[in-house]
Amino acid sequence: MNNTFGELIRMRRSYRQFLSTPVNDEVIKQVLEDAQYTPSNCNTQPWDVHIVSGNKKDELSKALVKANKEGKFNPDFDFDVNHYYGRYSDRQKEQGKAYYEALGVKRTDIEGRKRATERNLEFFNAPHAAFLFMPKFGDNVRVASDIGMYAQSFLLSLTSHGIGSIPQTLLGFHADIVRDNLGVPEEMKLLFGISFGYPDLESIANSVRMGRDSIEKNVSFHN
Ligand SMILES: Cc1cc2nc3c(=O)[nH]c(=O)nc-3n(C[C@H](O)[C@H](O)[C@H](O)COP(=O)(O)O)c2cc1C
Repeated sequence: MNNTFGELIRMRRSYRQFLSTPVNDEVIKQVLEDAQYTPSNCNTQPWDVHIVSGNKKDELSKALVKANKEGKFNPDFDFDVNHYYGRYSDRQKEQGKAYYEALGVKRTDIEGRKRATERNLEFFNAPHAAFLFMPKFGDNVRVASDIGMYAQSFLLSLTSHGIGSIPQTLLGFHADIVRDNLGVPEEMKLLFGISFGYPDLESIANSVRMGRDSIEKNVSFHN
């Protein structure tokens, strides 16, 4: 592909329905090689990445869906959306509304909303998922920002290879299950996961395209 950076970053978006066609192992390796060039605090390179595909992915998905149905949650971090306020909360609600509306799920349809959430744990039918674990240091702010940077490198490299993706905090809601399933030691904490594969462009779940505010909302210039 021969896109400018501006085109590439605008091309990346979150997909919520994938084709089951797997991505070639060599391509996944190239994406991982690209993402390895991510900068990090003191060059600590703290990302601990687990790629899940095939039977392992299906097995893990079943375990996550079961835990979700039973209401068994054990996230490593506090992901409570109720902490959002003001414009952050407005944007979060707008995003949820756009997703439910695309699927035709009404506000009052509790079962429909549960099902829409559950689709996260089925990786939106993606053939692969990356789980991003991290060691804990202090208040975790530095290391979490490094993992966030890694994730964006990974997402953009996928985009440059014509592969769709979605980062998912929801994949971190059952951290013990993921650790047990993948043999990850207890000291590694799960920040989030990324489902990836070829997007199903016909799906209504992919009809949502979230916008962005103008830079004036986020940037101040000082002279
Ligand atoms: C760290 C992170 C976690 C996210 N978690 C979820 C998630 O659990 N489920 C989901 O459907 N979308 C999730 N998203 C996707 C966001 O909703 C999406 O990035 C945002 O609405 C902007 O849309 P875009 O990615 O299509 O540009 C997450 C995004 C990020 C960066």
